[in-house]
Amino acid sequence: MLVTLNDILKEASNSNYAIAGFNVFGYEDAVMVAKAAQELDVPVILMTNRDAVSHMPIKILGSILTDIAKEAKIPICVHLDHGKSIDEVVSAIKSGFSSVMYDGSQLPLEENIKRTKEIADIAHHFGVSIEGEIGSVGYNDPSIKAKAMYTVPKEAKRFVEETGVDAVAIAIGTLHRMKAQEANIQYDRLEEIEKLVDVPLVIHGSTGVKDEDLIRMSKHRIAKVNIGTALRMAFGNTLRDEMNNKPEEFDRIKFFKRPMIEVKNKAKEKMIILGAKRK
Ligand code: G3H
Ligand code: ZN
Repeated sequence: MLVTLNDILKEASNSNYAIAGFNVFGYEDAVMVAKAAQELDVPVILMTNRDAVSHMPIKILGSILTDIAKEAKIPICVHLDHGKSIDEVVSAIKSGFSSVMYDGSQLPLEENIKRTKEIADIAHHFGVSIEGEIGSVGYNDPSIKAKAMYTVPKEAKRFVEETGVDAVAIAIGTLHRMKAQEANIQYDRLEEIEKLVDVPLVIHGSTGVKDEDLIRMSKHRIAKVNIGTALRMAFGNTLRDEMNNKPEEFDRIKFFKRPMIEVKNKAKEKMIILGAKRK
């Protein structure tokens, strides 16, 4: 069933598990993430990032993902990840997304609060949940120019109170697009934020988080853990092997079979670490 963040994050925030938000790029990975969640009987979040919406019209992504969600027996949230403008958020809402992120993390604090509040009001008007970001999770990819800034706990409190977001992404040591699990998580900063902020917390760049930290963080108030690169590596690296091993083959549906299975395996592995069985 199609749900919003509010339907699933509150319980996760107050329990010892967290819900995975996976970046997906089309049918092949989205359907396998949904199957993985179904087999574990846990909610999941299907997210489209900037690369996905520049590759495929958001309307088409919305149809594919919301159909998968509506057909599923488990709760699935269809979420716009890192939305950068009102227009993008409105297109996602019109395309059936049940949830959006507005990412104003590169803006000065006042501007981030002002724009996030405007967009939160629009999302709420349509019954769609909204995630904002305070501080900024940087990128491990030099081609992406974004400054990284740790979240200042008092600013997080003000941001949440003044914008009305349903969930907030915080920067406590992760970086987007790390291939190895090498991030150093600042638990002191997390605990300060937890004392001041009462909405569910979101971690971005979680491919780079060690398994023991994913377990530890899921027992905190962190409710949503965003994972993208790990699934892209599972799909892409398996596809490369398939193509190398079968030089005579040209049918992409045959090539996609094993990469899709590896996406499902990786999604299950991450959801189990995040507490699917503790739920
Ligand atoms: O918003 C997307 C996530 O933060 C994914 O980050 O690709 O580093 O796992 P990742
Ligand atoms: Zn992110």
